Amino acid sequence: MAFHRAHGRLMVEAVPLSDIADRFGTPCYVYSRARLEANWHAYDAAFGTRAHRIHYAVKANGNLALLNLLARLGSGFDIVSGGELARVLAAGARGADLVFSGVGKSRNELKDALLAGVGCINVESAAELSRLAGIAAELGVEAPVAFRINPDVDPGTHPYISTGLEQNKFGIPMRDAPALYRQAAELPGIKVKGIACHIGSQLTDLSPIADTVAGVLALAAELEAMGITLEHLDLGGGLGIRYRDEEPPAHADYVRVLSAIPERYEIHIEPGRSIVGDAGVLLTRVEYLKQTPTRHFAICDAAMTELIRPALYEAWHGVELLEAPAASAVAACYDLVGPVCESADFLAHERELSLTPGACLALMNAGAYGFVMASNYNTRPRPPEVLVDGDTLHEIRPRERLTDLFGTERQLP
Ligand code: LLP
Repeated sequence: MAFHRAHGRLMVEAVPLSDIADRFGTPCYVYSRARLEANWHAYDAAFGTRAHRIHYAVKANGNLALLNLLARLGSGFDIVSGGELARVLAAGARGADLVFSGVGKSRNELKDALLAGVGCINVESAAELSRLAGIAAELGVEAPVAFRINPDVDPGTHPYISTGLEQNKFGIPMRDAPALYRQAAELPGIKVKGIACHIGSQLTDLSPIADTVAGVLALAAELEAMGITLEHLDLGGGLGIRYRDEEPPAHADYVRVLSAIPERYEIHIEPGRSIVGDAGVLLTRVEYLKQTPTRHFAICDAAMTELIRPALYEAWHGVELLEAPAASAVAACYDLVGPVCESADFLAHERELSLTPGACLALMNAGAYGFVMASNYNTRPRPPEVLVDGDTLHEIRPRERLTDLFGTERQLP
């Protein structure tokens, strides 16, 4: 277990988290190398000898150190912007190991991706196809593409992270796909490689995935009948994780569902959350305890600026004390909130805890969509990120300085 208790202290690998809080201050993100790597290997092992490719979804956590560790394991990467392209290349990834997703790729982003020799561009509209064909012609290269289809499947997750429903902006309606594939197959500068889809995130049920596989296979058969050959089928993001009491499927069961795909196709997946989610925590310190007529507030030094998931999706993150409570601790049912001037600024509601001002807490399972969604609202510097490898600490990103925040702003003469 990467995060566990030893003699009452919450540990990450061999290091007490309170030592990290003391050394780097709070708020602070902490990751476990062992957990990150085990999560990647769990997918890889579940596929066994079946031809597959894991493209880690960089959006979940794009720190260079994490990307580099995954690249060393042989991971590919799913990127959604020119920024993420630059990031993965800086982390040592090869262009061929990248898939470029996203509904609004700019000309420059497409150009840079082609120049980097990207493995596949998942195209999301007819307009994007013609833009891409034009750029490929200008550059004199062939653009490898898959179309991201929208299978109109309900993933049974939060509406903000559902992406494969008809009303979502993502993908191409299934009925439009054959005509677009035909057009693409005839365009010079375009090389059709596969079919892509992604129905949503935090998936805890296999049946929408099975429905999606069936839809993709039906389209693949139709395309093959039209004489269009495909190399891979990309099923999008990975499994959900356990934040509270969810029971995400086992990797083996997930791969069994994907194995309905005939052997002649390479299976591609783009997991993000399940690679980094449980490999990271956010450390925070209680600044004040404040009692109002109806509430016990624990006002923490982390806020929605460091972890926006509770405010944005009403997401639930476990809260753990780093050390056994002090004798003077007050047991109550607390709302954990931050210093930001928004009533949506909360980290957790109604948790039974014994707290004192100064107590340090960990918000669990914060490795995915945590730091990457952090903001500077209220001119708050973003926290440091520390990666633990056994008993060794690596500061993989220092705390932002105030000069990083407004040093480039210019006043009028
Ligand atoms: N591929 C595509 C095309 C995606 O849109 C996503 C996530 C993934 C892969 C990775 O999915 P995962 O394996 O992480 O489920 N900020 C939200 C999550 C947004 C996910 C968006 N797309 C949250 O904090 O829950």
